[in-house]
Amino acid sequence: MTWSPRTLPLAAVLILSLLAASCSGTNGAPTTASTETPTTTSQTSTTTTTTTTAPTTTADAFSGLIAPEAQALGIGDEYFPTLGNPGYDVDHYTIDMVFQPDTTTLDAVTTIEATATVELTSINLDFTKLEATSVHVDGVEAAFLAVEEDLVLTPSSAIAPGEGFVMDITYGGTPGRARSAAVPFGIGWQTVDGQNYVVAEPDAAHSWFPNNDHPLDKATYTFRINVPDGTTAAANGNLVERITDLGREIFVWEVTSPMAAYLATVVIGDFDIFEDPAASAESGVPIRHVLPAGTTVADYPGLERTGEMIAFLEDRFGPYPFDTYGIAIVDGFGAALENQTLSLFDSNIAMSFFFEDVLIHELAHQWYGNSVSPGAWQDIWLNEGFASYAEWLWIERESSREILEQEIALEREDFAGAGFPAPGRPPVFELFGPAVYRVGAMALHALRLTVGDEAFFDIMREHASRFADSTARTADFIAVAEEVSGQDLSDLFNEWLFERRVPEFPAAS
Ligand code: TRP
Ligand code: ZN
Repeated sequence: MTWSPRTLPLAAVLILSLLAASCSGTNGAPTTASTETPTTTSQTSTTTTTTTTAPTTTADAFSGLIAPEAQALGIGDEYFPTLGNPGYDVDHYTIDMVFQPDTTTLDAVTTIEATATVELTSINLDFTKLEATSVHVDGVEAAFLAVEEDLVLTPSSAIAPGEGFVMDITYGGTPGRARSAAVPFGIGWQTVDGQNYVVAEPDAAHSWFPNNDHPLDKATYTFRINVPDGTTAAANGNLVERITDLGREIFVWEVTSPMAAYLATVVIGDFDIFEDPAASAESGVPIRHVLPAGTTVADYPGLERTGEMIAFLEDRFGPYPFDTYGIAIVDGFGAALENQTLSLFDSNIAMSFFFEDVLIHELAHQWYGNSVSPGAWQDIWLNEGFASYAEWLWIERESSREILEQEIALEREDFAGAGFPAPGRPPVFELFGPAVYRVGAMALHALRLTVGDEAFFDIMREHASRFADSTARTADFIAVAEEVSGQDLSDLFNEWLFERRVPEFPAAS
């Protein structure tokens, strides 16, 4: 398609409004009623009695057993204080699930291989919505209790700091949407017209599997998804095995680069796994998409440019950080989300005039967001401002620098004189609001104009490589920018990120 200055960006903003509309039931998407009812009482009651043969306790007696460090509220995220746990570090998750599409019931065992960072007499996992039925630690049955959004395990003996240990959590129920303070719609597990898929950013990963739900604790993953024959089950990473057994099929997917829990997904339904050899050859990255059965890349104009887009962003941002890429296209989602190596798109977006903008946006998140994840959720502009900037880089490539400058100037006008939160520190309900995306991107543009193209792209590449497979805070990015450019940039970042205004852009250096 051709770029005209005003048609393009704002794609992400459009998407989120679309999604909000779909959740109020205006576009025929199912209301949340069918999926939102929790199937257990675990999230509303701290005295849930669990059916276990391990020693049972009451909540009161139990709380005396919770070691202070494990009980500590969360990993320290100011915006989501109860999420995560600094007392252990997960190395690998194996999510082994049997899913019944007709009843949408899930029976699962999640195995968590972890290392203790402190002495653990009990372990708080993030987990809600589904019901745990048995728990083992190092193969030995352990007591457990659902407490608010945690599942608290008590191993039969304490785990020493530095010691590796394995937790098996058996659980089940009907997975469904979870509320988040960050977005005005239910996130987590979605069931829409026979399709099931997970969109968990920022805080819903623990509504479908128990985990340490913060980007500060990344891990590798194995998914084993058992579905009826004829149903396709996809997840992040590479499909390494398909096992057919008695009218069922098990799809085994492996993620070999560390991944934040919020980026974990499954996509289950009537889909084809579509490999694209031409795009793979163009980018050197194996590309596979998960498409509605019977459709191909040719049905979604723009999608055939995925290999070209990867090559383009590699040139700007450095090597693609993972070993595969592709998108899944689903119905009734109303948005797009950058799940690691398998971004998820609503089918209407995949057929819209702005599909390429959203493709490049979600692809850019593989570098900024997925490989380099935010060290705290308030730093979300490091994801969304950067991915929005990639939309602008694509405009520049498809048209010219001059057209890009006009486009950015017009967008800046949209914000000048309007009220909006400071993108470097938005309130939690504005984490995915327009200022974070568009003013965040403008902050990068101001940086580019200040330091010049060469230093700017060196900064982008240095940030991506220094914090690959890890996390970074805003201060880390500013430090990289100052180091690479040799300039003091504190005023520039302060006025663009931490004030509620859009300054004039500096003259190009
Ligand atoms: N990260 C998404 C984007 O690229 C926005 C988003 C955040 C989202 N949380 C979500 C979309 C949950 C759908 C569902 O713009
Ligand atoms: Zn985004």
